Amino acid sequence: MKIGIVLGSTRPGRVGDQVARWVHERAVDRMDAEFTLIDLRDHPLPHLEEPPGFSGSYRDERTRDWAATVAACDGFVFVTPEYHHSLPGVLKNAMDHVHVEWNGKAAGFVSYGGAGGARSVEQLRLVCGALQLADVAPQVTLPLATEFENRTVFKPGAHQLAALDLVLDHVVAWSTALSALRCGDAEAGVRERLDAIVAGLRNKDLEALRHSYAPDVVSFDVEPPLQHVGVDAKLKNWAKVFTIFEKVDYELRDLTVAVSGNLAVGHGFGRVSGTLKDGTGTDGMWVRATFVLRHTGDGWVIVHDQASVPFDLATGRGMTELTP
Ligand SMILES: Cc1cc2nc3c(=O)[nH]c(=O)nc-3n(C[C@H](O)[C@H](O)[C@H](O)COP(=O)(O)O)c2cc1C
Repeated sequence: MKIGIVLGSTRPGRVGDQVARWVHERAVDRMDAEFTLIDLRDHPLPHLEEPPGFSGSYRDERTRDWAATVAACDGFVFVTPEYHHSLPGVLKNAMDHVHVEWNGKAAGFVSYGGAGGARSVEQLRLVCGALQLADVAPQVTLPLATEFENRTVFKPGAHQLAALDLVLDHVVAWSTALSALRCGDAEAGVRERLDAIVAGLRNKDLEALRHSYAPDVVSFDVEPPLQHVGVDAKLKNWAKVFTIFEKVDYELRDLTVAVSGNLAVGHGFGRVSGTLKDGTGTDGMWVRATFVLRHTGDGWVIVHDQASVPFDLATGRGMTELTP
């Protein structure tokens, strides 16, 4: 699970950065999820200028960047002040900009302000409901008078850590439980993704293939080196195939898929065949193929794959003639 800690104030002189840091520092010690700090100052958005609709495709590059940030998370902790009994406009604007990227995830709250930010969270819960973000009941409320020195330097009471842990426990548990909802028919989604790879190879379409891999994919491909790290390295391998083959065919046989939460494993036998640049036809060789996929806002993407042939122990040679 990846949980985004969203800092809802961008105000010059804000105290919210101290609170968000406190949340993040406590969270990163946990083993049950990965936590990332999302500062809205890093995502300057215009006042909503996207056309209405909740399609997940956006006109403005800033929105696309924001959508990718939200999509990459399975749940959120909103760190929010209270402005005039409500949440900051900048936070509401950021929430309004995207829609499907919030759906089916969990939300927890750490609020601060004159009255601890409690009224801000009450309104934020209503917004979450409209975005299909499941709000957890526990929350941390931090009054300026008791938890901040001079109402500006954050000095939380020790008991606040227990309250924060409870929020994090709930956000992680709900995010995990909701992942099954977000994955939909998981096996069909995984098979669809692998079919898209087959189609991308047959069409020699590197850009289509790019969508099937996580940016940080680690590939144990048949070719050296031992590992290919990152989507560009992976695509370089396919580009090499495209320069050798005039016409590419790719078969994936005996594919078995197992899914748990937002992770899936597939294995089968793969073969690249076709016509070489000089017009010679080749049947290629069958390799054992294993795929590990993660469900993200872009659907299932490959985070790891592995292709291999067995080798003869006595000679050390790869056995490339085997067929499934
Ligand atoms: C425009 C504005 C309105 C505010 N309204 C409230 C309010 O209605 N209730 C409250 O408890 N605090 C209110 N406050 C106090 C803020 O919660 C407090 O200043 C907090 O530090 C703001 O967060 P920030 O410094 O991270 O921006 C308001 C502050 C501002 C700037």
